[in-house]
Amino acid sequence: MEQYPNVFVFDHPLIKHKVSILRDKNTGMKQFRELVEEITTLMTYESMRDVPLEPVEVETPLEKTTQYRVPEESIAVVPILRAGLGMVEGIHKVFPTARVGHIGMYRDEETLEPQEYYCKLPEGIEEKTVFLVDPMLATGGSACDALSALKKRGCKKIKFMAIIAAPAGVRAVATAHPDVPVYVSTLDRELNENGYILPGLGDAGDRLYGTK
Ligand code: PRP
Ligand code: URA
Repeated sequence: MEQYPNVFVFDHPLIKHKVSILRDKNTGMKQFRELVEEITTLMTYESMRDVPLEPVEVETPLEKTTQYRVPEESIAVVPILRAGLGMVEGIHKVFPTARVGHIGMYRDEETLEPQEYYCKLPEGIEEKTVFLVDPMLATGGSACDALSALKKRGCKKIKFMAIIAAPAGVRAVATAHPDVPVYVSTLDRELNENGYILPGLGDAGDRLYGTK
């Protein structure tokens, strides 16, 4: 993925360790949800590296000092429903005041084309750094359309975070939205004929919510 300067693939032992458990078909719903949260928290640390800070005056027990904070109102998380919901808590753990928007997309199982069915975003989203999150980046259709939907509603600074990605999905997002940094914890081999990622982890929404 060297040809895409805005794509960051994490290569951290702790993330690899957790992703290997996440993939295991014997990992149950509770542990799956916890791992999605933990991996998201680890990814958030790195993907927030360049968010703007503001100076604040702090009085320590010893003296006054100028320190730096991420403005509370400056960050929004937008999960792609439904599987993206599993990542929100992972960001809230380290940045609890992030506002949350929701965008609903589902893949038509025949055509694999994404369909938008819901969109509700926090007020003032145009000025925030928006983290669009979805554990799976497969063909890239859902992410590309969700990014276009956010841009249409005025978002200017968007980052996209996925836990597992297929090369085709990364290429699709990086080509359609070269201005959007893409953070993926793991780049997998390929898609199968049904648009599932290999080796992947199966259907993230079903595994998070026990629907199958
Ligand atoms: C999954 C996943 C992504 C999408 C990825 O959602 O969570 O949103 O598929 O596939 P793509 O890159 O080919 O678009 P799904 O449509 O299964 O909905 P769900 O989250 O409700 O399970
Ligand atoms: N969505 C999933 O949940 N898993 C895949 O492998 C592909 C799309």
